[in-house]
Amino acid sequence: MKGILLAGGSGTRLYPMARGISKHLMPIYDKPMVYYPLATLMGAGINEILIITTAEDRAAFERLLGDGAQFGCRFEYAVQAQPNGIAEAFVVGEEFIGDDAVALILGDNLFYGDDFGGVARPDGGVVFAYPVADARRYGVVEFDAGQQVLGIEEKPVEPRSNFAVVGLYFYDNDVVEIAKALTPSPRGEVEITDVNREYLRRGKLRAEKVAQGAVWLDTGTIESLADASDFVRVLENRTGLKVGCVEEVAWRQGFISDDDLRLLAEPLRNSGYGEYLLALLDRPSMVRR
Ligand code: TTP
Repeated sequence: MKGILLAGGSGTRLYPMARGISKHLMPIYDKPMVYYPLATLMGAGINEILIITTAEDRAAFERLLGDGAQFGCRFEYAVQAQPNGIAEAFVVGEEFIGDDAVALILGDNLFYGDDFGGVARPDGGVVFAYPVADARRYGVVEFDAGQQVLGIEEKPVEPRSNFAVVGLYFYDNDVVEIAKALTPSPRGEVEITDVNREYLRRGKLRAEKVAQGAVWLDTGTIESLADASDFVRVLENRTGLKVGCVEEVAWRQGFISDDDLRLLAEPLRNSGYGEYLLALLDRPSMVRR
């Protein structure tokens, strides 16, 4: 199973902040935003990941994340020339996906408390549903007790459920052909909702609920970015455990060894981040979450 992390886009809701730098490189409390979705993909057991960025930001992502070998992963990079829509990820990523199944995560989505480990290689598509207070602002999914999707609507005036579709999607290899056949919506983007509608039409779209008590935040506005930072700060300070810590996830997944983790920790010690990684190794009681 391959993974795609989509971290292009325009970020206008974060202007002027996101004018000079990709929002995905901005801090959510103690680490760059992109760490969180990356940790989610890795936590689902995926270690071959394509990171899609704008042309201007690509070098900065490569500087931050490298080729992934330090995390026991393989990272590739690709550029989306224009923000033509989320579904374009599968066109940009066609060669990388090859004949594999693929999970797509949006670079501004933060998950906590669900490891999404059970989905690997779906037959069709799998979306995740999360209860939200105001479903009118989201893609909304209606589904039956057997997880079969009955309908998906984009920002409905009268939502048929209170479940939003989150920014993490699992598909079989048909997604490439489906995405390539899409035409842009009235707002000029190839829409992920249209990919899901095509799977729905084929009778091959499931919805799983995000684990009860788990948290999904998107971080694309000033308020939601500040909320996400607060969330991570409160949780980390209360528990002493980090959220979205890719080095830790790589180690917990067995992608890297104890010695590898020690090497990663060393240059991160001044910020305290490295101390945390070393404590995972040296204080066995911390190993249990
Ligand atoms: P959006 O919320 O659709 O857009 P945005 O956040 O880039 O821009 P704006 O603030 O102007 O609304 O994007 C969701 C995520 O998907 C975000 O992480 C950026 C990414 N994305 C791309 O990489 N390419 C695209 O073409 C689009 C539409 C989004």
